[in-house]
Amino acid sequence: MTKQFHDHVLGDPALDQLFREARSYNGWVDKDVTEEQIRIIYDLLKMGPTSANMQPARLVWCKSKEAKEKLAEFASDANKKKILTAPLCVIIGYDIDFHEELPWLFPHTDARSWFEGDVEGRIKGAARNSALQGAYLMLAARAIGLDCGPMSGIALDKVTEAFFADKPMYRADWICSIGYGDASTIFDRSPRPEFDKFNRID
Ligand SMILES: Cc1cc2nc3c(=O)[nH]c(=O)nc-3n(C[C@H](O)[C@H](O)[C@H](O)COP(=O)(O)O)c2cc1C
Repeated sequence: MTKQFHDHVLGDPALDQLFREARSYNGWVDKDVTEEQIRIIYDLLKMGPTSANMQPARLVWCKSKEAKEKLAEFASDANKKKILTAPLCVIIGYDIDFHEELPWLFPHTDARSWFEGDVEGRIKGAARNSALQGAYLMLAARAIGLDCGPMSGIALDKVTEAFFADKPMYRADWICSIGYGDASTIFDRSPRPEFDKFNRID
């Protein structure tokens, strides 16, 4: 039966785990993330909304030592270790030609034609929606008890070249280490603005 009402509010432990106590980690305890966990994260994140269900994210889950070394080579010095010591580091890329998949991803209308010939619009849409998918990824990972360490301090052109050589319309956009965070590797929480600082209700 279709669920009609969302009357179940998550309790404080879930909200703490997803948001209030979740941190961006710089270091990791020595505990593996399994392929099963990777697939669970993906099966959750893919349910998050994207424009016209475009699903533009193209993810490379760097789990092997070789893959992490290949990735870390392009990272800033400070970020290298945050990749190499993590059990997993995900490349969040996007496909500028995501529209080619729309006939099956958004089958009830001809959404492919909305994007044909508009490369600039497609880049904008792919970047926006793949970033959303990356956010769903972090929340999914946190929901199953893992921690995240998002990073953009890496030569993204080089990552694109090295990991998407056979996909000329894919672009790497940022990366995210995933594992069990080592609490000794984080600073105090940086301030978060109160509602009135950057919001208004019209
Ligand atoms: C897209 C993105 C890029 C980031 N790039 C880096 C990075 O290159 N190196 C790094 O150490 N932290 C990076 N961070 C981590 C942020 O500094 C961190 O998420 C922020 O300060 C909030 O920290 P908290 O989650 O522990 O409160 C990045 C975060 C995001 C979301």
